Amino acid sequence: MNPPDSSNPTTAQSRDPIIALKDLRLTLGSEAGEVNILRGLDLTVGAGETVSIVGPSGSGKTSMLMVIAGLERATGGQVMIGGKDFMKLGEDQLALFRRDNLGIVFQSFHLVPTMNAVENVAIPLELAGRRDAFDRARALLEQVGLGHRLSHYPGQLSGGEQQRVALARAFAAEPKLILADEPTGNLDAGTGQQVIDLMFQMSDHQDTTLMLITHDPALAKRCRRVVRMGDGVIEEDTTSGETARQAAE
Ligand SMILES: Nc1ncnc2c1ncn2[C@@H]1O[C@H](COP(=O)(O)OP(=O)(O)OP(=O)(O)O)[C@@H](O)[C@H]1O
Ligand SMILES: [Mg+2]
Repeated sequence: MNPPDSSNPTTAQSRDPIIALKDLRLTLGSEAGEVNILRGLDLTVGAGETVSIVGPSGSGKTSMLMVIAGLERATGGQVMIGGKDFMKLGEDQLALFRRDNLGIVFQSFHLVPTMNAVENVAIPLELAGRRDAFDRARALLEQVGLGHRLSHYPGQLSGGEQQRVALARAFAAEPKLILADEPTGNLDAGTGQQVIDLMFQMSDHQDTTLMLITHDPALAKRCRRVVRMGDGVIEEDTTSGETARQAAE
């Protein structure tokens, strides 16, 4: 028997930053010449934090998220995610890291149209070698209130339902970090609210770090920390009082 655990490794790990960006630069070529999209950006996020990213259109929010997701490669600086140096990982390693550690939710759902709801959630789990992939997918879909839509295809689901499938998929592998880019951008206010409530509930339940891009000030304030971007850098970084989760610790 192990002695009572005073140095819980999960807790110890949660003290390390899950995101550490230093002097992050992203320059992309366009027909009009090179565009400096991220221009020496610094950001550190601790495990378990909830962070919203706000700022004007074109300020680089999505670009930063794509770098953190390993879907876009920085052209300079340091990118450490979950202790991994993304600048040193190859494409295959990035894809594996993403599969095992990240959940991503996009504005436009990004479901596979030829797969039904259960398959959309289960296939990534199955690829990760989980034998319980389909059982888990069904359980997750029940959790987001879609137990009655398991065999529906994306084209047979409403926008809010599709986004709930996307949430189930994002959380299915119990990722350390959830990245969401305007997850309610294509939904009406009421439906958006339901999706957001679910996202915070699941994130709280799984103790996930949550980074959320939004243009909605009320939604931004639901995160303990609000980071404002402007012209490829962080312009403002505000942390409010304790959240219920932190107060309970
Ligand atoms: N592939 C690309 N090539 C060149 N420039 C790009 C490319 N992708 C994005 N940009 C430019 O980078 C800047 C930042 O874009 P990004 O999508 O990150 O902004 P954003 O803050 O997410 O904006 P929004 O709120 O409108 O979604 C914009 O000026 C955009 O035109
Ligand atoms: Mg964007």
